[in-house]
Amino acid sequence: MTQVTMTVNGKAVSGDVEGRTLLSEFLREGQRMTGTHVGCDTSQCGACVVHVNGEAVKSCTTLVLDIDRAEVKTIEGMANADGSLGVIQQAFQDHHGLQCGFCTPGMVMSAAALLKDNPKPSEAEVREYLEGNICRCTGYHNIVKAIMAASGQDVAPMAAE
Ligand code: FES
Ligand code: FES
Repeated sequence: MTQVTMTVNGKAVSGDVEGRTLLSEFLREGQRMTGTHVGCDTSQCGACVVHVNGEAVKSCTTLVLDIDRAEVKTIEGMANADGSLGVIQQAFQDHHGLQCGFCTPGMVMSAAALLKDNPKPSEAEVREYLEGNICRCTGYHNIVKAIMAASGQDVAPMAAE
């Protein structure tokens, strides 16, 4: 076991990990932060997406030992300081961008990474960016709409699905 330290949602955390410990496991089991989900074992679904040093990564494919001292942000860190929903979270609610909610944490984290790099993405750009995030419920349309709305764009002309 090796001790690692990192900052998760602004709070310093540490833990003893094995060489094989995945970030998804560290967050869910070590830190009891269970918003980050695991939906596959082939790095395809994106339910486990978090930010590491500001970049979106799949935490099921990230070894904790490789990111010692990193800054990690998870869905639990996306609400505003007063506890109200962050802009992207609110947009998912407003535009019905979730059903079972299992993909949603990863979707929101991916959306945040996209909007940081591309504050006004086109619909095609949003769809392309989400190729690493699978949703079984929504058919994606309302997720795309929510992300575009979160970027401040008028989504009224986009039909609801
Ligand atoms: S659990 Fe990480 S990509 Fe599916
Ligand atoms: S809302 Fe159920 S998988 Fe996306």
